[in-house]
Amino acid sequence: MQVTVLGSSGRTGTHIVRLLCARDYAVRAGVRSRQRGEEVARFGARPVVADVAADPEELVQAFEGSQVVINTAGAGDPDPASVNLVDRDGAIAAIHAAEKAGVQRYVQLSAQFADSPDQGDRLVRSILLAKQISDSILRRSSLSWTVVRPGTLTDDPPTGRVKIAGHLEAGRVSRADVAAVVVASLEEPLTESRGFDVHSGEVPIAAALSSLD
Ligand SMILES: NC(=O)c1ccc[n+]([C@@H]2O[C@H](COP(=O)([O-])OP(=O)(O)OC[C@H]3O[C@@H](n4cnc5c(N)ncnc54)[C@H](OP(=O)(O)O)[C@@H]3O)[C@@H](O)[C@H]2O)c1
Repeated sequence: MQVTVLGSSGRTGTHIVRLLCARDYAVRAGVRSRQRGEEVARFGARPVVADVAADPEELVQAFEGSQVVINTAGAGDPDPASVNLVDRDGAIAAIHAAEKAGVQRYVQLSAQFADSPDQGDRLVRSILLAKQISDSILRRSSLSWTVVRPGTLTDDPPTGRVKIAGHLEAGRVSRADVAAVVVASLEEPLTESRGFDVHSGEVPIAAALSSLD
């Protein structure tokens, strides 16, 4: 199965590419520049230029032949204009491009509280609102979708154990464990047409996903 990962040079995206390659998926690692592609190529992924803020037709080309797209891209700058460009408009462009390219399955890395974005300071609100809008476009798309909403991300080592539910109180989770949840979602049909929060926790990832209600 071929999977294209957007934002594969990012901290969570790199974990996702590494895990997918280890599980023998054919991985296209979406990067904004060829230089960043060299970093993910070491896992066995094929770098492909995929900038969600550029020409949408280039995204369609990047996705062609893939059954799955995983979007982990996020604006590097918390300024609302950048966030709207990448996390809202770029994420929406990627969803439409995936539909056009004949992709079947789409996993979006969102953020906890994206489904109730009226909280936090101005910058937090703008991120949550951008994610809420793109998540809702994905839910209404023709794609088989999953929205993963992690709490605050950390660079702690992976534990393989999480807490997953439709909605959780505020919490934290490592990027490595989030990546493992995203990859395991591809192998758990209960995650299709679902959005859920993820924190660090005690339940093995496969068991947490298979007990989604
Ligand atoms: N920080 C948190 O606590 C938190 C909490 C919940 C959810 N999230 C979300 O989780 C996701 C991953 O976060 P992270 O901290 O692992 O990300 P990160 O390390 O900041 O990486 C972000 C990735 O997005 C890419 N990107 C930026 N603009 C892009 C564009 N126009 N087109 C394509 N790719 C683009 C970056 O590419 P370059 O390498 O070229 O810059 C990079 O690969 C993000 O969507 C973030 O909003 C974050």
